[in-house]
Amino acid sequence: MKVLITGGKGMLGRTLQAVLKEHELIIADLPDCDITDGAGFHRFLAAAAPDAVIHCAAMTAVDKCESEVDFAYKLNAVGSLNVAAACHRQGVRLIAISTDYVFGGELDRPYHEFDVAGGAHTVYGQTKFAGEELIRRHCPDHVICRISWLYGAGGPSFVHAMLKLADGTRPELKVVADQHGNPTSTLAVAGQLRNILAHPELVGTFHMTCEGEATWYEFAQEIFRLAGVKQEVRPCTTAEFPRPAPRPLNSRLEKRMLRLCGLPPMPDWHDALAEFMKAEFPR
Ligand SMILES: NC(=O)c1ccc[n+]([C@@H]2O[C@H](COP(=O)([O-])OP(=O)(O)OC[C@H]3O[C@@H](n4cnc5c(N)ncnc54)[C@H](OP(=O)(O)O)[C@@H]3O)[C@@H](O)[C@H]2O)c1
Repeated sequence: MKVLITGGKGMLGRTLQAVLKEHELIIADLPDCDITDGAGFHRFLAAAAPDAVIHCAAMTAVDKCESEVDFAYKLNAVGSLNVAAACHRQGVRLIAISTDYVFGGELDRPYHEFDVAGGAHTVYGQTKFAGEELIRRHCPDHVICRISWLYGAGGPSFVHAMLKLADGTRPELKVVADQHGNPTSTLAVAGQLRNILAHPELVGTFHMTCEGEATWYEFAQEIFRLAGVKQEVRPCTTAEFPRPAPRPLNSRLEKRMLRLCGLPPMPDWHDALAEFMKAEFPR
């Protein structure tokens, strides 16, 4: 199959390039392809003539979105609209990557795909939800995959940030222990996207995070344990660590659609992290 990847040079895109070897991949990333240029993307897509698009391109700097609101909407909402409209007009299946941040995070259980999204408290979450809605409206043949707490080869990610901070100069690291989510590897996401590609009949929204849950504090402890790094970690609250974009307290996603559609479950986050650490930071 011929698969075009927007944002293909990014963290997830690079893993997709490494994993989806059985497909012919076309990378649509800056500077050759700009998804905010509707006519330009239309031409790029027509020339490539893929069977499917995996849409990864986004403004992913969550805090920066708070101060660069127009740019965030232009890329995450209008850019996604351009991709959706071009795919629909050219009869190309669209698989778009979204985020747990489309939810407000107030629920006391994991969010599933039939929960109403759109209560995001961050500009990033609001722009990604706007992008989702535009995709639903303008490209019926779509799959939207929500992922979260992502790490992959080369980073940037929480895993890379923690290991950089643990350089022996800090007696202790304070890590937030009241936000709950699903740490997820790009490798696990790529494996599930391969299944989605193999099933052209699938449409709709799918949660695609690793199984099991953690706080950032627990995630950090496991990173240091696997890396064999001795670093004191102390739990702290979100209030002690104010950020421009207020992170949701509950980012946990239930994978109801994978289950209902008979797709294999995502791996447990401990296993996915162990596999990643072995490859990225061999001891
Ligand atoms: N990272 C996470 O923790 C996380 C969590 C949940 C969901 N997601 C979603 O997962 C997807 C992939 O994330 P990622 O971490 O791989 O992102 P990333 O590393 O930031 O990669 C995004 C790629 O898109 C490119 N891009 C930016 N503007 C573009 C444009 N106008 N046209 C074409 N390409 C453009 C970027 O190029 P430049 O680098 O030159 O800007 C970059 O190569 C995104 O949709 C993101 O919202 C990520």
